[in-house]
Amino acid sequence: MHQSKAKITAIGSYVPEQIMTNQHLEKLVDTNDEWIISRTGISERRIASKHEYTSDIGYQAVLDLMKRYNKTVDDVDMIITCTFTPDFKTPSSANLIQAKLGIQQAGAIDLNAACAGFTYGLHMANALITSGLHKKVLVVGAETLSKVTDYADRSTCILFGDGGGAMLVEYDEHNPSFIAYHLDSEGEKSHNLYVTSLSSTMNEEQLQATEKIVQNGREVYKWAVSSVPKGIASLLQNANMTLNQMNWFVPHSANLRMIESICERIHFPLAHTLYSLVHYGNTSSATIPLAIDLAVKENKIKRDDHLLLYGFGGGLTQAGIIIKWTI
Ligand code: UT7
Repeated sequence: MHQSKAKITAIGSYVPEQIMTNQHLEKLVDTNDEWIISRTGISERRIASKHEYTSDIGYQAVLDLMKRYNKTVDDVDMIITCTFTPDFKTPSSANLIQAKLGIQQAGAIDLNAACAGFTYGLHMANALITSGLHKKVLVVGAETLSKVTDYADRSTCILFGDGGGAMLVEYDEHNPSFIAYHLDSEGEKSHNLYVTSLSSTMNEEQLQATEKIVQNGREVYKWAVSSVPKGIASLLQNANMTLNQMNWFVPHSANLRMIESICERIHFPLAHTLYSLVHYGNTSSATIPLAIDLAVKENKIKRDDHLLLYGFGGGLTQAGIIIKWTI
């Protein structure tokens, strides 16, 4: 990999206030708390309010980042919002976040790589900065999955939640964050996880009736536990590093059983694995920044720690990156 010239300098996150517990789901579908916890590790998830959309959640995550790190984003020259639940098909949620922040003269695009979205977004930010074309890129992973979740389908509605995370990536040739990446796409398996028709002109009730996540959970599960360890091996090879050198493993928080199985297969301790699913569920593009930010707030992650981030899901696609923590 080209020597990176990009450094992560700040992180922020946000989740909506409303909590949906497993007990609440028991009233909607034929399920129970014990099944959900034993099969997924999820206790509760956050749900956006009726008028709260992905750009609102992403915007709040950026405000949190600015406040905590005393950062201005006025001079950001690119906003990448990673999401598969944008407010509209067009404009992009990144456009809306740019407007809410009042940033002038910044590029703004949405990136859809489903649950691998945030690691793709960080990879793109590194590429744009290391190439010399951009200086300061805001990467936002935000989702309102509750708006496309079928609350009559017990095999999917127990999994998903809403939330967002953001990272600021800036030019720094002396102390870069990015060490290596590995990307993969298996579109021939895309029928295992997709969202039905999209329309931005519908009201919430119409949207709920037409736009739904459809998933063959068992197939995605089998694919992930066999493919992700192979991808991690390629990523480590690209970095010329070993898992022993990783302080933290941050896989996409899809399902705790899946994470445990991946950890067993790669021989990495669960105690050094970060996930956000217990209280937030599967928030797709947001799971990785949420998991990192929870660990930052608990003072678990130290400067110069090595983190292996690994997103995987709809596509089917996967994206892993190894970073040095530089905040
Ligand atoms: O983020 C994107 C990537 N997505 C994923 O990584 C999701 C991966 N897959 C999963 O997390 C799991 O496959 C699920 C949590 C979705 C399902 O767990 P599972 O252990 O694979 O269950 P299963 O689909 O094999 O179903 C086992 C049984 C079935 O009943 P029968 O046919 O054995 O009688 C299901 O009908 O569990 C039943 N079941 C439920 N029971 C109670 C399915 N959902 C529920 C439920 N409550 N919510």
